[in-house]
Amino acid sequence: AEIVIVPDRAAAGALVAEEIAALVARRPDAVLGLATGSTPLPVYEALRARLSGADVSRVRGFALDEYVGLDPAHPESYRSVIAREVVEPLGLDPDRIRVPDGTLEGIEHHGADYEAAIAEAGGVDLQILGVGTDGHIGFNEPGSSFASRTRVKTLTAQTREDNARFFDSVDEVPMHCITQGLGTILDARHLVLLAFGEGKSEAVAGAVEGPVTSSLPGSAIQLHPHVTVVVDEAAASALA
Ligand code: F6R
Repeated sequence: AEIVIVPDRAAAGALVAEEIAALVARRPDAVLGLATGSTPLPVYEALRARLSGADVSRVRGFALDEYVGLDPAHPESYRSVIAREVVEPLGLDPDRIRVPDGTLEGIEHHGADYEAAIAEAGGVDLQILGVGTDGHIGFNEPGSSFASRTRVKTLTAQTREDNARFFDSVDEVPMHCITQGLGTILDARHLVLLAFGEGKSEAVAGAVEGPVTSSLPGSAIQLHPHVTVVVDEAAASALA
């Protein structure tokens, strides 16, 4: 992987936004892989200025994951987050941006439907990734198969605690999610993993230079030929 150490989140956002703007200029119907959580927010922030005036009417996007059983209208559903942080501010066509369907009705088909939609779009050009403190990417928690596709998973206690900050209490964080698999993520043509802060340093070191193991799902990126890792000094601090 190419490792880029940046001074702060804003610099990371500017760098990745530049890459995305160049992709969209080259390919107006580019397929973006969108992450949620705190990490990608500086990218979406920087894209507002970077894409203003660009023709984004044909840009497509697929989110990595969604909570299962959370009302899609809940402000912290990833459907809501993607609408609020990405689709609306960037002026994207909401019909071209998909988030996995976490509603319980028909959940057994939602993973396969999502995979089919990604395949129909021709695959993801650039996948933005954050990493969990336990090394997850998407919501592929430790133990996830490197061949996995979009499916329902159980969130670990650690991830539910980490994400409790978005809810009133940890009890409100859903127990389950629907997430692109590691196999799905590895099919994207370019992976861009971002991480900020000391709390991510072990996960970053494991992902970038630890053994390739399902105990640290982020290490799957070592199997991919085109990966960019953008980290601040603190998140880079455990790298050799
Ligand atoms: C979000 C996702 C997760 C997050 C990870 C880090 O779509 O797939 O893997 O990227 O949990 O979360 P933050 O960025 O909030 O630290």
